[in-house]
Order: sequence, then C-alpha cells, then structure tokens
Amino acid sequence: MDRDFTVLGLESSCDDTAAAVLRGRTILSSVVADQTALHEAYGGVVPEIAARAHAEKLDLCVEQALTDAGLHLSEIDAIAVTAGPGLIGGVLSGVMLAKGLSAATGKPLVGVNHLAGHALTPRLSDGMEFPYLILLVSGGHCQFLRVDGPVSFHRLGSTIDDAPGEAFDKTARLLGLAQPGGPSVEQRARDGDEARFAFPRPLLDRSGCDLSFSGLKTALLRQRDQLVAEQGGLHAQDVNDLAAGFQAAIRDVLAEKSRRAIALCSGITGFSVAGGVASNASLRAALETLCGEYDLPFVAPPLSLCTDNAAMIAFAGAEKLACDGADDLTLTARPRWPLDQASPAALGSGKKGAKA
Ligand code: KG4
Ligand code: ZN
Repeated sequence: MDRDFTVLGLESSCDDTAAAVLRGRTILSSVVADQTALHEAYGGVVPEIAARAHAEKLDLCVEQALTDAGLHLSEIDAIAVTAGPGLIGGVLSGVMLAKGLSAATGKPLVGVNHLAGHALTPRLSDGMEFPYLILLVSGGHCQFLRVDGPVSFHRLGSTIDDAPGEAFDKTARLLGLAQPGGPSVEQRARDGDEARFAFPRPLLDRSGCDLSFSGLKTALLRQRDQLVAEQGGLHAQDVNDLAAGFQAAIRDVLAEKSRRAIALCSGITGFSVAGGVASNASLRAALETLCGEYDLPFVAPPLSLCTDNAAMIAFAGAEKLACDGADDLTLTARPRWPLDQASPAALGSGKKGAKA
C-alpha cells in the first residue's frame, strides 16, 4: 500500500462510535466513544439507544480524529465506513455520514465489511502476509477464516448459537459481575480453581470447526443455582471458581477447534486472533502454545486493535479500494453481510446484531 495514502475510517456497527485517520500502516489518530454507560441499566446493547448515540457522536468523533491527526478533511484521500453487518440503525448513521463527506469533498467512498476490518487487522499491526488463518472472537462473532486477499475469505467454521463474548457477558450477569463481562470474569478467574466444577466442552465430539456456547451458560446457571440451594448464597471463592471453570471451557474449545482449523489449512503464513475476546490472556496463551506446536507464527494484535475501532476499517477500506475500487453513492447499510458468500449462512443473531 502507498505509504502516504491517507484514509478516514468510520465505525458504528455495534456499541462503539469510532473514527480514525490512517496513513499507510501508521495510525495518525483513533477515537473510540464507547456506549457502555448508556446500556448498563438494560443488561445488553439496546439497538435504538445505540443508533441515537451514534447519530449524535459520530461527527464529533470525526472532528476529533482529524484534529488529533493534525489534518483537514481536504487532506484525506478516501473515506471508509463500516457498511455492515451489525445493528442497522448504527450502520446507517455511519454510511449516511460517509456519503455526505464523500459527496461534499469528492473523495472516494469505500463500504467495508466490519468482519473484514477485524480479519485484516494482523496486516495492519504486523504486516502479516496472505494467506493466513484467523479466529474472530467477539461479542457478536465467532468464526475461523482463511484470509486469501483483501476481499477473499474462506470460512472454515463458526458458532451455531452464541458468540463467546455474549457467553462471557451472560455469565457475568449470572454471577453479579460488571459489564462488559469478559474482563470481569477474567479478573475473578485469576483467583479461581478451574478444575472445581466440570463444565461441558460443546461440539468437541463433532468433527469440523463449528462451535456452540449456549449450553455453557446453562451449565453455569445450574451450578450456581445448586450452590445457592445448598449454601443459601455464593461465597466469593465460589464466584472465582465458577468464573475460572467457565473461562477454561471456552479456552479449551477455542484451542481445540483452532487445532482442527490449522490442520485444514496448508500453506498459511501464520495464525492470528482478533475481536474483543482475543484480549483474554488465558486464551492468548493457549493459542500461542498451540501455534508453537505447529511451528506457526502467532500474531495477537494489540488490545486496542482487537476491540471495535475505526483504524481497522480505514485499513480494510484502503486494501479494498486498491484491489476492488470505490463504491458510489448507492452504497447501502447491510444488517447481514457474510464475508464468505460461498459458505452456508451461520445460524442465529446475537444481542449485538446479526452473526454473519
Ligand atoms: O469486538 P468487541 O469490542 O465488540 C463486538 O462484540 O463486536 O468485543 C466485545 C466483547 C464483549 O462481549 C466482552 O465481554 C468481550 O468482548 N471481552 C472479553 C475480554 N475483553 C472483552 N472476553 C473475555 N476476556 C476478556 N478479557
Ligand atoms: Zn467487532
């Protein structure tokens, strides 16, 4: 990619409003306004509240990103925006603003698939070469992808129900821990005994790389209720042990399915992981060990690039523009948009939007 090519990226597909300016692979600015506080009282993302907040905040984020980068809009070469998949109200806010900016400045417009943003992140952070394997794990997504090019993805498997982040968030709610659930469950798990409770390892008995997580939270609910019935409540150590057992089950399933995905891919340059759950230290360690066994380079992008951000959208936009050209003003927002059009659609739709 041209080192001086400068892209403004916009992201508003879930509960983070983000804008960033990227030059080549250098992030000149990255602004993320998260909506956690707005949704806290509801125990999950409320699409209508998310959409309004995006509409209110997105132009401010763009101004901030340009100021932080020390650039004027006229110095931007292209505008990239998440055009799906996700909560449609938020995606629409982003697409409409990007179209307005493109129409006003005459700069090329690129609609980016949010999942492509995550999937191309190891190229932004580490210059990873095609083809490589990536595990996307977040609150809305869970899939293995072989990334062959900027717009060429092959899905090897995906969740058939919940995404792991969703399961972490539900578990935190069941244990009375703060949202988002991943970091709070991980923190309590550090002082827990992962062997005390036997949690299932769903779908390991079935061949292939598909995953399932909805049964895990039911198992946790049962275990919790049993302890409450026996003891009249949960001790702090019980919460630690339940958190540790649950995290270990997710880690083991993701590691074993990653082993199978690696076995299905020949000629890949390495293995990477992205999405909010990729910040889990226990998961990262397990995947690193696994890659060590196969002598395969393991790339774990920095945490700020694992969670939703607009730098990854700007980067994916620049890559798509170079190989596929720009979109025009007929670009539409898509609630569902599978990266791999050839693979059958994954089942279900999560709290955080459609699982493409
Ligand atoms: O990628 P992301 O920021 O947003 C989308 O879902 O697209 O991921 C957020 C998800 C939340 O469900 C959160 O609980 C989970 O990632 N998460 C974690 C950790 N940090 C965030 N899950 C496990 N361990 C963590 N340390
Ligand atoms: Zn995401």
